[in-house]
Amino acid sequence: MSNIILIGFMGCGKSSVGRRLSESCNLQFLDTDQLIEKDAGKTISEIFAQEGEKAFRNMETACLEKLLQENTDGVVLSVGGGLPIREENRKLLKKLGNVIFLEASAETVYNRVKYDTTRPLLQGNNPRGRIMDLMRVRKHFYEDGANYIVNVDGKNFEKIIDEIMKLTGNGEE
Ligand code: S3P
Repeated sequence: MSNIILIGFMGCGKSSVGRRLSESCNLQFLDTDQLIEKDAGKTISEIFAQEGEKAFRNMETACLEKLLQENTDGVVLSVGGGLPIREENRKLLKKLGNVIFLEASAETVYNRVKYDTTRPLLQGNNPRGRIMDLMRVRKHFYEDGANYIVNVDGKNFEKIIDEIMKLTGNGEE
C-alpha cells in the first residue's frame, strides 16, 4: 500500500511533519493517537489513568489492524511513540506502507516536550532522564521497524519533508 508512516520518539515531530507532508503530497493525514481518542471518547491521559498502559497498547494494535482491514491507502500516518515496541505492530506498519523513523536527539525531544502535560509517560519529576532511558530502550525497535531513517536535529520542516519525499518517491513527476 502506498502510505507513508512516521514513527519515532515523542516530540520528534511526527504529527507536525506528517500534517505538512500530507499537504505537500496531496494525501490525507491520520494519527493513531487521534483515532484512538476518537474511538474511545477519551484523551490518551484518561485512557492511561483509567485503563492502564496495556489497554492503550492493545488499542494501538487494534487501530493498525482496522486500518489494514479497511485497505487504507494514500495517507500519511503518524503513530504514537511507543507503538513500534510491539513486534506485531512493526509487522503491521510495514504491511501498511513505507515506514520512516524520524530520529531526534534526547535534547531536541526534551526541548520540545518540557512544558507538555498530555504525555503520561513524561509527567514524572525527571523527564530528561526518562527520555534518555526510554530512548535507549526504543532505538532498536524504531530502527527495526523502519524502511528509512531521517534525522531531524537542527532541520526545518522543508528540509525534513524534502528528504522524506525523495526517499519515498513522492512528489516526483
Ligand atoms: C507514547 C507516545 C504518545 C502517546 C502516548 C504514549 C509513548 O504519542 O501515544 O502518550 O509511549 O511514547 P506521541 O509520540 O505522538 O507523543
